[in-house]
Amino acid sequence: MGRYDCVVLHNSVALTEALDSQEPIFPSSIIRDEVGAVEESLREGGFNPYVMAVDYFSRDVVNTLARIGPRFVFNLCEEINQRCDLEMCVAGLLDLMGIPYTGSGPLALGLALNKFRVKQLLRSVKIPTARGYLHLPGHKPRSRRVRFPVIVKPVSEDGSLGIRSTSVCHDPSRLEEQVAYIHDTYRQGALVEEYLDGREFNVSIMGDGQVRVLAVSEIDFSGMPQDIPRIVCYRAKWDEESPMYRGTVPICPADLPARYEERIRDIALRSFHALGCRDYGRVDMRSDALGNLYVLEVNPNPDIGPEAGFVRAARAAGYSYAEMVLRISEMALARGAKVAAVAYAL
Ligand SMILES: Nc1ncnc2c1ncn2[C@@H]1O[C@H](COP(=O)(O)OP(=O)(O)O)[C@@H](O)[C@H]1O
Ligand SMILES: [Mg+2]
Repeated sequence: MGRYDCVVLHNSVALTEALDSQEPIFPSSIIRDEVGAVEESLREGGFNPYVMAVDYFSRDVVNTLARIGPRFVFNLCEEINQRCDLEMCVAGLLDLMGIPYTGSGPLALGLALNKFRVKQLLRSVKIPTARGYLHLPGHKPRSRRVRFPVIVKPVSEDGSLGIRSTSVCHDPSRLEEQVAYIHDTYRQGALVEEYLDGREFNVSIMGDGQVRVLAVSEIDFSGMPQDIPRIVCYRAKWDEESPMYRGTVPICPADLPARYEERIRDIALRSFHALGCRDYGRVDMRSDALGNLYVLEVNPNPDIGPEAGFVRAARAAGYSYAEMVLRISEMALARGAKVAAVAYAL
């Protein structure tokens, strides 16, 4: 085996797996597929990647990176030390070591993990988000100005963790129960938002500086059983055997009137820039019953496993899987080339 020239950094298991006993199926296997596919693509592109799992920070992590001195890191880390809010620190460490890496920097990664802060930021640049408020454990919310029905989500999670059919509440007593569930199970704030009763779009974006929308994808809820809310809940994302999974079919590219699609693309690009994302990302949006669009969240470094929505959009834009991986790698390499003094050696 010749000298390694890049590193694929990843979590070996999803450590949040055990968090909620009712959500036991968090997909470690999906992470494995993602790592394997990225590794293979890098090899196809002529790189010699070292695949490195980091579940906990240790001196070894730093030493191994310093020893290899990679040209870049393909950063697939979504959490470390069992905490997804420390995801940003992995990017920060690579910045400190002067190692270029793929995907967004620490500021965008950290910010995106707080959906309430993202709403505040987006609103400040006139990007619409659903009306809502944050209810922190042990506090009274400052305002409760929302109309029912509402949806209750953990403020700092991803992958629809904590989102289930009962997350949609039609009256104050159900709302109270659902907020208590988030506080007790996830030990974090509950974001209460007006429920948007329209269509759902995911917009995949690629680029650094010169940024483009790859494609707009729509979730087709027509196969969802009548008694289940039309949301992409936890089981819809991860439990292939569930009626929720079968009832949330992605259509990519979405069939949309040109002007409406233009508006969706514009909102997504502005959201991506507002958070300072780079390389790749996905913006999730919903419309209300009248078709007005609202951003739900911005995902820097979204899943790029072979089955992921981002990859479907890249394909729709004409990229093979390997071309997408190599394009993202080139962006990290281009940034690396701009760093005058690379400080690998410790
Ligand atoms: N305000 C809302 N109105 C209607 N559905 C929502 C709303 N917020 C979230 N959802 C549903 O919940 C899903 C997950 O919410 P999202 O904010 O994207 O969190 P995650 O980071 O877990 O993907 C969305 O894909 C959507 O189906
Ligand atoms: Mg989402």
